[in-house]
Amino acid sequence: MARDGGEHTLQPPSGPFRAEVRVPGDKSLSHRAYLLAAMAGGVSEVANPGPGRDVASTRSAVARLGATVDGSRVSGPGVAAWGDPGAPLDCGNSGTTMRLLAGALAGRPFRSTLTGDASLNRRPMRRLVAPLAALGATVELTERGTAPIRVGGDGLLHGADVELEIASAQVRSAFAFAALQADGPSRVSSPPGFRDHTERWLETMGLGEREDGRAFRVFPGPVPPFRYEIPGDPSSAAFLWAAAAILPGSTVVTPGVCLNPGRIGFLQVLEAMGAVIEGEVTGSLLGDPVGTVTVHGRGLHATRVEGELAVAALDELPLVAVLGAYAEGVTTVADAAELRVKESDRIATTVALIRDLGGGAEPHQDGFSVLGTGFLDAGTVESAGDHRMAMAAAVAATGATGPVRIVDSDVADVSWPGFYRALEALWSSR
Ligand code: S3P
Repeated sequence: MARDGGEHTLQPPSGPFRAEVRVPGDKSLSHRAYLLAAMAGGVSEVANPGPGRDVASTRSAVARLGATVDGSRVSGPGVAAWGDPGAPLDCGNSGTTMRLLAGALAGRPFRSTLTGDASLNRRPMRRLVAPLAALGATVELTERGTAPIRVGGDGLLHGADVELEIASAQVRSAFAFAALQADGPSRVSSPPGFRDHTERWLETMGLGEREDGRAFRVFPGPVPPFRYEIPGDPSSAAFLWAAAAILPGSTVVTPGVCLNPGRIGFLQVLEAMGAVIEGEVTGSLLGDPVGTVTVHGRGLHATRVEGELAVAALDELPLVAVLGAYAEGVTTVADAAELRVKESDRIATTVALIRDLGGGAEPHQDGFSVLGTGFLDAGTVESAGDHRMAMAAAVAATGATGPVRIVDSDVADVSWPGFYRALEALWSSR
């Protein structure tokens, strides 16, 4: 398990709160922005990138390949001019960095090695092999199907039509970044519910076409430089939305958040559980709607999350468990076996979080159920080296009967450095 160290104890708020909070730039979009800016030949502008360590991993990797990052200015050499990095590229804790980069590097005429921390080097990478091999690339993994990944080829990729079994935005994006370098058009399809940022961006750039909620055609060609201000991260905002939903009478307003349909399944869950949601689309950036989301806490009841909704709320499912503990009835999450292969086994760590705070939860093969008792106790939660688990534990303190101590709490820096302070500031605003 990765150990970040640090301990943080949160004292629950004394009463309902109300505040407007601007959350940090979106992590998924930041990875894509740096990679595409490096694939482009020329100067792009990437403003308001996500501040966490995962995005820093992508930024360092593209710098190793020849991009120059100076503030928000990214000078891309163009993917055809990417240089052989020689030594392995370190993707840290970031699965998105590793999988998207593997796709972009698949079309290069040299072999690159991608590695990560102990958690990332345990995560499944076999899912990349067949789609990238269909384009003509070579992908080598350890015997266990994990990183270090060796990827590359002879620099000649051919258009291909692939069908994926899982609704993974990361695998779809890896395929698309490779297919941009092929000698003819390609097509990828998968079950729905995934975040389709890559598809929308490439469509906006004239490099692809969305056919329906599942299929995407990629037209090879050079990536044009672009100017982009990254909107707020809905997966970060979700922690604040959940806090407001837990404490009736509370309100949080989050302007400037990315509202890609594959990212906001959690809002549907919140609504189904009884929170009042107001959403206003205020603009659109490279194909993604952006807007203000307001969440009012009103008392919670149980729900069932499954199917496409489980995919569209995947990163937020630990929060669904926390809300479930504060709700009336039994909340169930199903069709979410992917949780087992995130930064931790999030089925196991979510159940442990709820139990560590005196609640009732049961693991299932593809999800979990949580008994809503209406409260959680004081207690200590181990982050398991997983940023979203540490942050979900902090949110669980919102309605707890006493302080919640988080061990190995610094891991929150992976997506949102300063998160605990932001949550505590929210709790104390009236
Ligand atoms: C991401 C896609 C999702 C998500 C991850 C970020 C992305 O993973 O869980 O946090 O930026 O493409 P999968 O696509 O593997 O489901």
